[in-house]
Amino acid sequence: MPKPKVLITRRVHPDALRRVEEHAEVDVWTEDRPMPREELLKRVGSVEGLYTMLTDRVDEELLERAPHLRVVSNMAVGYDNIDVDACTRRGIPVGHTPGVLTDTTADLAFALILAAARRLVEGVDYVRAGHWHTWSPDLLLGYDVYGATLGILGLGRIAAAVARRAQGFGMRVLYTSRRQHEETEAALGIHRVDLDTLLREADILSIHTPLTPETYHLIGETELRRMKPTAILVNTARGGVVDPDALYRALKEGWIAYAALDVTEPEPIPADHPLLRLPNCIVLPHIGSATHATRRRMALMAAENLLAGLRGEPLPHCVNCAQLGGPYDH
Ligand code: GLV
Ligand code: GLV
Repeated sequence: MPKPKVLITRRVHPDALRRVEEHAEVDVWTEDRPMPREELLKRVGSVEGLYTMLTDRVDEELLERAPHLRVVSNMAVGYDNIDVDACTRRGIPVGHTPGVLTDTTADLAFALILAAARRLVEGVDYVRAGHWHTWSPDLLLGYDVYGATLGILGLGRIAAAVARRAQGFGMRVLYTSRRQHEETEAALGIHRVDLDTLLREADILSIHTPLTPETYHLIGETELRRMKPTAILVNTARGGVVDPDALYRALKEGWIAYAALDVTEPEPIPADHPLLRLPNCIVLPHIGSATHATRRRMALMAAENLLAGLRGEPLPHCVNCAQLGGPYDH
């Protein structure tokens, strides 16, 4: 039997590549940038498995061009880049990588909380620019993280891991979520409130909702105006949850104090974007899960999802397998 053909849209960890190569004939895009759309559309024509990054859009147009496709495996926990319903309609399972990046991403969210509250980036810039001439009683005053109220928007795995870290800082933690999470509440001593209360009470608001039509620009002018003028907004989820124009005005006009973003809209954020000129805004290039160990785990998990799909078995970590029902009928 010839091996099935798969396309991997970026260079991934060699252990994962080797694993896929044991069972498939692999086409890998090796350039240091995402596959141009035309190239992607051209190369999916003959493949049965597609191993994607969050920068690849998998939509009707792509699926039209991929008549042999039997599985899509996204090397990310989020899958807003994929039209899951369109895949489901075609009987194509979609894999993702939950769990393995939870603590790594929570670490980065906490790094951003501390960096914003204590103005770390401004401090580094200040020293590098040669401005540090003397100690000063009012140099770079920030806000205490310990004892502050942390507001969590969306209580998934990563949010719970952030709440766990917040315990060590003696923080009060509130969350807003579509449903009550009694076990997590009891385990972490956190409380569910409505969005309005969350916005008004949070000293630090950390975003952890996936990007969906319901959460697109969920944080806009109205919401930002409800926050404390001393509040810090942290986003490690998806840029589209926050309206960037409203955020710019909020930071410029002092509706809130600071923002620290690992994700932006658009992504990448253009170097001349107004947010990048604000001293009270930190922007990172979407590196929440970017540690050696975690990216390897993600790559391997995505490989296993891909291979299961090629075998016609349920993916170990599947977005739409419940909708697809039993063994796929191809
Ligand atoms: C990264 O943003 C991911 O969804 O894994
Ligand atoms: C991701 O793992 C999440 O559910 O937050």
